[in-house]
Order: sequence, then structure tokens, then C-alpha cells
Amino acid sequence: MCGIVGAVAQRNVVPILIEGLRRLEYRGYDSAGIAILNAGMERVRSVGRVSDLEARAREMHAIAPTGIAHTRWATHGGVSEKNAHPHFSSRDGVEVSVVHNGIIENHEALRARLLGAGYRFVSDTDTEVIAHLLHSHVASGLKLFEAMQRTVRELDGAYAIAAIRVGEPHTVVGSRRGSPLLLGVGESNPEGCENFLASDTSALLQVTRRVAYLEDGDVVRIGTDGYSIVDAEGKPARRPIVESQLSAESIDLGRYEHYMQKEIFEQPGAIANTLEMVTNASSVSAGLFGAEADEIFARTKHILILACGTSYHAGLVAKYWLEAIAGIPVSVEIASEYRYRDSVALPKTLVVTVSQSGETADTLAALQHATTLGLRDSLSICNVPESALVRQSRLRFLTRAGPEIGVASTKAFTTQLTVLFVLALVLARQRRRLAPSREQELLAQLRHLPAAMNHVLACEDAVRHWANRFAPKQHALFLGRGVHFPIAQEGALKLKEISYIHAEAYAAGELKHGPLALVDRDMPVVVVAPNDALIEKLKSNLHEVRARGGELFVFADRDTLIEPSDGINIINLGDHAGLLSPILHVVPLQLLAYHVALVRGTDVDKPRNLANSVTVE
Ligand code: AGP
Repeated sequence: MCGIVGAVAQRNVVPILIEGLRRLEYRGYDSAGIAILNAGMERVRSVGRVSDLEARAREMHAIAPTGIAHTRWATHGGVSEKNAHPHFSSRDGVEVSVVHNGIIENHEALRARLLGAGYRFVSDTDTEVIAHLLHSHVASGLKLFEAMQRTVRELDGAYAIAAIRVGEPHTVVGSRRGSPLLLGVGESNPEGCENFLASDTSALLQVTRRVAYLEDGDVVRIGTDGYSIVDAEGKPARRPIVESQLSAESIDLGRYEHYMQKEIFEQPGAIANTLEMVTNASSVSAGLFGAEADEIFARTKHILILACGTSYHAGLVAKYWLEAIAGIPVSVEIASEYRYRDSVALPKTLVVTVSQSGETADTLAALQHATTLGLRDSLSICNVPESALVRQSRLRFLTRAGPEIGVASTKAFTTQLTVLFVLALVLARQRRRLAPSREQELLAQLRHLPAAMNHVLACEDAVRHWANRFAPKQHALFLGRGVHFPIAQEGALKLKEISYIHAEAYAAGELKHGPLALVDRDMPVVVVAPNDALIEKLKSNLHEVRARGGELFVFADRDTLIEPSDGINIINLGDHAGLLSPILHVVPLQLLAYHVALVRGTDVDKPRNLANSVTVE
């Protein structure tokens, strides 16, 4: 969701800005633009891909040592060139240009005030108020850095901003609150240095690995003479420079056609990496989650899981595990609902946030809301070490899935599940609900998980065959029971987000309470059917579907009790994996969505209207 790059150097920064935007494409966007600064300011914007923008920049021979760039995911105002960033404000010989990620909540009040002051608005965006506000402060005689400090004091909402102005060469200023922005420290030599701003590290790997994460309220100035930061109070601030561990290869497509495909096949390795500290030990310990974990877990009486989308589905699976294995009551809430709900905060609750990006605005706000209700024990299960969510949580367990570039979350989900399972074991052990022999047995199953997943991935050819039959359909039902019901929900989400087929998931026992009315010969029904304790119940539900002419596509275990026949198609995945079964059973559903999307010719990694990192509410 919206990406920002800013650069100052003693060389042409246009290729750096364009490459940065290309590396931010995965976040999701619908238009892009750059503004560059020489003696004057120039801008090029385009609806569509960064490659279109690059072609336009080449046509106009754009060359400059200073610039800002942006990929926009439309919120206020439709997808059009006039709404694409950067936005300009130009009057009385003062010209500024601004890019922004986030939402300015008081934009209407500011717009009215700025209209009264004679500013003219040419876009439908909330961002344009920032450009005019910044302009007004520069026009009053402030330098760009001070003008930005004055500007952000007047903004309500979430933002990451970068700006330039005519008359202050080799200078970019930025600020953040609620949306990510980091500083990249580049090469320096006797003639000066180069510095950068970006929404995330991947955008800068081509020029630097040395980054500093800005705090909420920070305002930063970068130049060829160095950089300076002030905090929300306007006091000079230092933010530690860290060496990013992100490797350029990890964001290359390699031999795969799409990032989603690559990420599906990376899952065994991602799980092995995530489990490294667990499977090398002879038993699970609270310390895996942080220094304070032993003490916090010991007082935990209730768990509240907050997340969105796929991460929310991971939380739903975890509820089954945590209650069954550790005996702790668990509530799982959609973050965007929880943050605005009048809820009852139970004392001694551990708040667990689950997120791939760690920057999801709703999840961050939900965590903050829980804190205001007095729930201060928090654990983040997250894939991005430096993310806001990790920094704001007392405990953490990082999923070591590597960058997830495809919008459809896959390896983040299975690594989240793996960590949540470990959490259940740790809590069970601490509460003396896990006999040493059972702990060893479950640890052995965890060690075997990557191999078991490799075995499941071998079903790809059979799934591809099914995909051809799914592709012409307009609707699909997904069924599961127990801990596999959230897996069915995740399968339906995957199918709808990348193939645009309408898909709904139901707990199979609910069929006869309504959705059975939808079933006819045109309704494919996907069933998650492991050999667990509910298999006989599930079989009865499948008969109900067959009796109405619905065609069944069943993902079962090796020795399944379900017989293939006319209208009952079965793919056998392997041996039943016991408690870990949901982690394996989601994989064929990911493959099904991927191959259906391929047949339908959709943009698999960047599905329409969606973004990878949802940094606005
Ligand atoms: C799922 O494929 C999506 N990418 C989406 O539902 C995602 O899981 C959700 O937006 C939450 O993101 P997070 O894990 O980064 O917080």
C-alpha cells in the first residue's frame, strides 16, 4: 500500500527512485510518480505500472540529484493521473512537492481553511492539503525542515511524507506517524554523501543496507551534507543505524513465474528457519518469546488474539490449539472490529497480535486500544523484525519466512501457525499439562514438518488438473470442521483474492442451516478432510452435498475413509499429521487458488484493488 522513496546524492537519482518504486511494487498500487529537483521542479506521473512511469521519465530525459517518488493505492479520489503523487503547491514564487502514505483525517477542515487562504485544489486527494499547508509555512519564510515540523503539528491521522522545494537544492524532508518511513544512509566521500528515505528497506537495497527506523512524530531532513532528525517535540533525536539483513536474492523471483508460487514452495524452508531455535532444543521454553515471557505467561489467564485477513485465520486455528493443549480460554478478534468495540477487558489477558508486515494499521490500532483498556502484556508474532508492531510489543516471536512479496499471504501464514503451535506447547508445559513424553513426540512432529510439507507440495500436478475445472466457475464453497474450519476460510480467501471467484467457507455442520440451498451441479465444494476425530461427521455432510448434485473436491489424508466416485474427487496428501494437520492442509488450497488464477489470467502477485501491506484503516 502506497510506497515512498526519496533520494539526495551527487549523481542522478532518477534510476534510484524508479528502482526503489519497482521494489515497492509488491505493496500494491495503482499509479506512480516522481518529482525531481534541479533549478526548478519537474514531475512525471502515470496510471498503471512503474515500467510505464520509467518509460515516461526516459522520454523526458529526467536527470536530477534530488527527488521524491511514490506508488499510490487509491483511498481519497479515484485512480487517475491528477490524483497520483507527487502533488505540487506553487504560488508567489514558492514551489513545493509532496508524496504521502496514509490518511489525513482532518483534510476537510484543512481544505476549507486553505481554500479561504486562496489555495486552489486540482486533485481529489487528502494529500493535496499537505502540499498547500507546507507551502504556506515555506511562504512565511521557514526552511523546508521547519515548515514540515509546523505542518505535521496540524495533521490528524496516519502519514509518512516526503517533500522537496525549489530553492533548497540537495534537500528532502520527511515525517511519519502511524505509517512506515525509514532513513537510508548511503556512501559518503570528500565531496559529500548520499541519503535516502523509503517505506521499507527493500526499496534501498540497491544503494544501502544502513537504515534507521523513524519513530512516530519524527521529522527528518536528508542532504548531501548529512541528515538530522527531530522528535515529535521538536527536540534533536538520534535513531540507531542498523545493518539490514535482507538479502537481494530473497526478493528475486529466481526460477519461479510468480512470487506467490515461489513463496508457496519456500514454506518448508521458512518453517525450518522459524523453528530453528525450537527444534535444536530438547524442550520448549518461554524464553523463545522474550526475556519477560516466563513471568508474563505465568500470570496469563486469558488470551486475546488480534489480527486481520490471513493472520486472523492463523489466530482462529490457534484458538483450537491453545484451548485444547494449554487449557487457556482464547478470544480471537478481527482487529478493525475490536478497535472500535466496547469490549470487556479481562484482567491477566495476554494480547497476541499476528501480522506478516507488522505495519497493518488496524492491528496496530487494536493493540493500542487494548493497552488503553489496561491490557499491557503483549506478544507480537510477526515477520518483519523492525516493524511498528514488534517495537510496540513486550514479547515477540519472529516468523523467519523471509520477505513475502505476493499479496496473497502463504508462507507467512504457515510460519505464523508454527509459532502459535509452539506458544501452545510453551503455555501447556508451564501449566504442567504437557507430559515430557508427549512434548518429545510433538517436538519430533515439528522437526518432521518441513519434510511432510515437501510431500504435500508434490500434489501440485493433481491440483493443476482440478484448477482447469474450477476456472470457469463463478462461485465455490469451502468446508471444514474443527481446527480445519479456519483452514477452509483461508482457502476461500485465497481463491477470491487472486482468482476473483466468489468463495465462502462454512463449518460443514452448518451446511443444513442455510448454505445447502446454494448447492447444485454448478457449485464446486472444496472439502478439507483430514483423518481427524470429526471425519465421520464430515462424511455425513458430504453426503448432504452429493444428494443435491454438488461436486466435491476433497483434500484427504492417505488412508482416508472417503471413497472417490462420480462427483467425489479426492487428492490424498499423505499421512495424517495429527495436531499439525492444519499447517499441511492449507497448502493444496494455496496451490488451487494459484493455479485457478493462472488459468483465469489474473495478476497473481498484484490482484486488483488489494495491497500487500495495509497501512491505512
Ligand atoms: C491475505 O492473503 C492478505 N494478504 C491479507 O488478508 C493479510 O493477511 C492482512 O491484510 C493482514 O496483513 P498482516 O499479516 O501484514 O497484518
